[in-house]
Amino acid sequence: MDLDKYMTEKKLVIEAALERFLPPADASSARLHESMRYSVFAGGKRLRPILCIAAVEALGKDPAPCLPAACALELVHTYSLIHDDLPAMDNDDLRRGKPTNHKVFGEAVAILAGDALLTLAFELVAGIDAPAAARVDMVRMLARCGGTEGLVGGQALDLSSEGKQVSEATLERIHARKTAALIETAIMFGAVCGGASPGQSDCFSAYGHALGMAFQITDDILDATGHQEKMGKRTRRDADAGKATYPARYGVDASRRFAAGYVTRAVGALAGFDERAWVLREIARPLATRDR
Ligand code: IPE
Ligand code: IPE
Ligand code: MG
Ligand code: MG
Ligand code: MG
Repeated sequence: MDLDKYMTEKKLVIEAALERFLPPADASSARLHESMRYSVFAGGKRLRPILCIAAVEALGKDPAPCLPAACALELVHTYSLIHDDLPAMDNDDLRRGKPTNHKVFGEAVAILAGDALLTLAFELVAGIDAPAAARVDMVRMLARCGGTEGLVGGQALDLSSEGKQVSEATLERIHARKTAALIETAIMFGAVCGGASPGQSDCFSAYGHALGMAFQITDDILDATGHQEKMGKRTRRDADAGKATYPARYGVDASRRFAAGYVTRAVGALAGFDERAWVLREIARPLATRDR
């Protein structure tokens, strides 16, 4: 099977599961539920749940029991996008090819929809069909990657760095926290669900971190060079906001080399895995040259 076909098939499985897990739009709190559904089903590559599933498969296990946890990653990701777009943060009006959540539902509902998606993610992870110790591990991993050492901490640092010339270490920390932490957790959910050995977990962790870094550096490059219609979000925003990005600090060409270097490290971390890790390898290779 080729990667495109694999991604299309998994997207369908993930979106059908998300449909089941999200509260119906016609229940009580209809506006809130509509707002959650609006952003989750606006599109998106579903990279994080696909990585989770591919990691379970790389270990030769059935990913089906892990599906709620895979979807939880997409809910946390979508929450982060809704909040990232708010006027108090990046103040964006286009996301996944549609007006941003707060433009349609207002800021209060957008904030609450993000909160509700994050909370639902924990409920899903806590309820998966796995031994209690594994579930507790995953809840802890999600809390850590979402918290001050991860997404929220990275977003705070991203905002407080606007307009400043940050050090190399700070720039790396912003990207590691705001983006790579959740991508690494996606792979590590796969490690837990697939029963990885400690050695395999270390390799997955290195892979996920490197992949996440390459992903955000490429997102920065695409903001500077990409096309709004392809990406479904506005471009040329980071420079205006004075964001700490790789292109701002190193220029586009050097940023491409950084991204390619991280991809090489990611693929290298999988050296000990057999052909069942083909998706993880093939997803990584085009990541630094993606156009959306
Ligand atoms: C965008 O993530 C935000 C970043 C972490 C760079 P994606 O590029 O994965 O967005 P979707 O899910 O495809 O919309
Ligand atoms: C993405 O950073 C980080 C999170 C959403 C957590 P960006 O602010 O660069 O993401 P886009 O470009 O708006 O998708
Ligand atoms: Mg941002
Ligand atoms: Mg943004
Ligand atoms: Mg960006």
